[in-house]
Amino acid sequence: MAFTVAIDGPAAAGKGTVSRAVAAHFGFAHLDTGLLYRAVGQRMLEGTDPVEAALTLRAEDLDREGLRADPVAQAASKVAAIPEVRAALLDFQRAFARRAGGAVLDGRDIGTVICPEAEAKLFVTASAETRARRRFDELTGKGEAADFDRVLSDVRTRDARDMGRPDAPLKPARDAVEIDTSEMSISQAVAAAIAVIEDRIKERNDHENG
Ligand code: CDP
Repeated sequence: MAFTVAIDGPAAAGKGTVSRAVAAHFGFAHLDTGLLYRAVGQRMLEGTDPVEAALTLRAEDLDREGLRADPVAQAASKVAAIPEVRAALLDFQRAFARRAGGAVLDGRDIGTVICPEAEAKLFVTASAETRARRRFDELTGKGEAADFDRVLSDVRTRDARDMGRPDAPLKPARDAVEIDTSEMSISQAVAAAIAVIEDRIKERNDHENG
């Protein structure tokens, strides 16, 4: 049976961590849709036309090195503003969402555009400073040189581009439950997400049995 969990939110809010934990908890498949845009962005940086890259994206493009690097993130948010790129990635995401056994998709427009019918919708957010701090700690933890103000301005630039684009802008779906993780630990954020999804599963079961 299909059951879709849509998890949206801005850069570095903790969507990835929450999504992976939720998928593992319920035994659902997980798709990090940001990787699709990152893979297209990476190919654009290598000189491929982004629409062409999106139309010919292969599974192995999602495993390439460097997809998590900041220049690729910025390139991803540029190609993500191109309607033909988004259109090329739509069917794959929708098919993934409706696969048997349940699916968690995380991104920017999952609850609004990709799966408006998702059974559970979450909007995971945190202040820009908190998100930049987490990203900064992650970089320095890996031994990479990082400048906090630069990380913060990168986060803000990407948020502005994601929220300001006309096609599928980042915003909470009307029926999404917002989880602000600014003052939460990872386990608190995961527990909050699981509680919302358990409610939705129960509602669906009650509806089907009654
Ligand atoms: O992990 P992080 O939140 O930093 O970024 P990501 O989820 O990997 O997404 C990278 C970029 O892809 C975002 O800044 C968006 O511009 C774009 N994106 C999108 O437009 N729609 C999605 N469903 C997912 C990502």
